[in-house]
Amino acid sequence: MLRTASYEADPAQVHRVLLLYSGGLDTSVMLKWIQDSYDAEVVCLTVNLGQPGEDYEVIEGKALALGALECHVVDAREQFAHEYVLPAIKANALYGGGYPLFTALGRPLIAKLAVEQARASGCDTIAHGCTGKGNDQVRIEATIATLAPELKVIAPVRSWQMGREEELAYARAHGIPVKASHGVESGAPYSIDDNLWGRSSEGRWIEDLAHAPDDDVFQLVTPPERAPDEAQEVELGFERGVPVTLDGERLELVTLIERVAESGARHGVGIVDHIEDRIVGLKVRDIYEVPAAAIVLLAHQELEHLVGTIHQNQFKPELDRQWAYLVYAGLWWEPLRGDLDAYMERVNVQVTGTIGLKLYKGHVRVQTRSSPNAVYDAGLASFSQSGGLFSQSAAPGFIELWSLQSRMAWRLRNQRAEERP
Ligand code: ARG
Repeated sequence: MLRTASYEADPAQVHRVLLLYSGGLDTSVMLKWIQDSYDAEVVCLTVNLGQPGEDYEVIEGKALALGALECHVVDAREQFAHEYVLPAIKANALYGGGYPLFTALGRPLIAKLAVEQARASGCDTIAHGCTGKGNDQVRIEATIATLAPELKVIAPVRSWQMGREEELAYARAHGIPVKASHGVESGAPYSIDDNLWGRSSEGRWIEDLAHAPDDDVFQLVTPPERAPDEAQEVELGFERGVPVTLDGERLELVTLIERVAESGARHGVGIVDHIEDRIVGLKVRDIYEVPAAAIVLLAHQELEHLVGTIHQNQFKPELDRQWAYLVYAGLWWEPLRGDLDAYMERVNVQVTGTIGLKLYKGHVRVQTRSSPNAVYDAGLASFSQSGGLFSQSAAPGFIELWSLQSRMAWRLRNQRAEERP
């Protein structure tokens, strides 16, 4: 095999592999395939980032039954929420105007945990199940190459040239249990990735841009048409940019995100049908279900606007966009992100207060705001009062100077136009 990158493994040097194992078809086939093709030992790592409906005991049992030397399950929900999702909230992080980055935030953490486990278990190589067409390979391999230059990487899906049918045949031949939903008869399933910040679906009809969403893709958010007829009001409280209360109750971040997601999901909030520019050049369509992000990011941004000055509010979205792009692009460990985070932290020192929102049939709307740091004075802004700190008589002078250059330029250009023959 031709190796293009410094971190790609030389098959002769692969003796013990840390496999990022999900329990699904690809990584189960991989678990056997690595043992067979490299004559290597495999240690499995499964990371819990709050993806719903996983049975980690079953996954662990399956890994061991397929010959794994060890299988480690790590509950990284707290770390994910505090060290990855929280900075994203402070940066109002949305890529391409709609994707709250849940997968992009999860990958650097998963890869970091893989590095730690690989070192602890004496592995020389890390294997993952990403394809060669996506962003996830970039995020995982960039992380490993950055944090652990001594470790090598193998990405069997990129090189084994098995299609779905071949994988299923390989699974049957090697006694790898195949779920009914993986059967050939029912066709390929959606490609799903999820964690506590959201869920994505790709593949099948989603690749047909003219195909409106089939309801069976929505496994998290209730389609708005079927959402309750009664609206729900929720109130989120923030301290220094951190969401800390829901309807007045103080909650730990993971619990708060889960509860907000439940309410949003019930009311059909957070469905995003997204055309996305992948970092590897492809343009693809994703269906996202992001009920927590839709609500928390809206509330955070609203509060930030309330406590920020016009100048801060004009400037920050540019940095927010850059932050989201870096993280989307797999450069979590790039120093620029740390630089940007320092700015985000500083701005968020003021972001304390509460935002009330209404959830109703797929919509979320801000209704109430309050903050001790609001740069707002009802008396000054009011139509019903004149005088006080705000001097209306100073307004004409302001306008005269504020518009000075624009007026000069306008006059110059129009004069020139008149002079033209
Ligand atoms: N398009 C999103 C991203 O690049 C979601 C990717 C989901 N990953 C997956 N393996 N299904 O972050």
